[in-house]
Amino acid sequence: MANRAYNFNAGPAALPLEVLQQAQEEFVDFRGNGMSLMEMSHRGAVYEGVHRETEQLLRELLGIPDGYKVLFIQGGASTQFAMVPMNLLQPGKVASYIDTGSWAGKAIKEAKLFGQTAIAASSEKDKYNRIPSAAELQIAPDSAYVHLTSNETIEGTQWQEYPDTGSVPLVADMSSDILCRPLNVSKFGLIYAGAQKNLGPSGVTIVIIREDLIGNPSMPVPTMLRYDTHAKNDSLYNTPPTFAIYMTNLVLKWVKAQGGAAAVEKANRAKAKLLYEAIDQSGGFYRGFADPGSRSIMNVTFRMASEELEKLFVKESEAEGFVGLKGHRSVGGLRASIYNAVPLASVQALVEFMAEFKRRHG
Ligand SMILES: Cc1ncc(COP(=O)(O)O)c(C=O)c1O
Repeated sequence: MANRAYNFNAGPAALPLEVLQQAQEEFVDFRGNGMSLMEMSHRGAVYEGVHRETEQLLRELLGIPDGYKVLFIQGGASTQFAMVPMNLLQPGKVASYIDTGSWAGKAIKEAKLFGQTAIAASSEKDKYNRIPSAAELQIAPDSAYVHLTSNETIEGTQWQEYPDTGSVPLVADMSSDILCRPLNVSKFGLIYAGAQKNLGPSGVTIVIIREDLIGNPSMPVPTMLRYDTHAKNDSLYNTPPTFAIYMTNLVLKWVKAQGGAAAVEKANRAKAKLLYEAIDQSGGFYRGFADPGSRSIMNVTFRMASEELEKLFVKESEAEGFVGLKGHRSVGGLRASIYNAVPLASVQALVEFMAEFKRRHG
């Protein structure tokens, strides 16, 4: 389609064109039901079919074993920052966090509202340009859980291999890299992710939780913020975000048609390689922010010699049809978010633009 932008937005982000087209086709009359999916009861058979199929697709594509519940919750990943400690932090225990950057920091700030927290490792002194190594981890023995952020969307760092936390449940915010690669869910007690990067539009947050962690909050927790409320009711306790779940359903089918998580990982690695090579081979004109051992294959962050040059890069790129290349306002610089649905052709076009920009301004 000629007028689609090269979309490198950090989230909400690019969706597969095929998914948008199918949603468009089904928009007014959903599969012969004489109404849009948005106009249907969430208690009716048609919507319930979509709801259950979405869970099944997640189970299949992420290899979620028995003994885990899959929940659809509203309020974004930011609400999970509070729900995790409210539901999992037991008296006399501490909530341990690995401090890898902006999003980990927000999770920590929220946990502090509910009890004692501890920092198991931090890369703050390196300006969060890397993920701490396994050797740096110091997990307090009385930890209720250890929380990590699998991919720091703003800094552009990503866990390459998850740490072993023994009997302490590992909790992960996977908002910006869920389903970018195969996952061993059994390593985790709880995984959460806002949908609006790799799974669909904003409005629904996926929670994958080991059953033994459900239903035991030690403090008064509002009904809607208890995991057991959603688990007991198959995420239909109240009205779920039906349209967001339907769009997620279509994205999951698209991932399946690509060949699943392993095939998507291969494509993601090819895109990331192209971009990091363009940075590394620019003779210092472009400088990668993340330490090479911690580089994200979802958010590629880089800087240039001056902020003026970075501004010019953004301005000229926008004139060429590129969207979303400005770094997050908190850290500056440049960022290309290359989630699952960003086509290789967009990355190829960006790499060409980068070479051309360097020729003109280098
Ligand atoms: C890693 C990470 N965690 C949490 C969030 C917050 O998500 P939400 O806006 O859904 O609350 C984001 C959003 O960009 C994110 O990238």
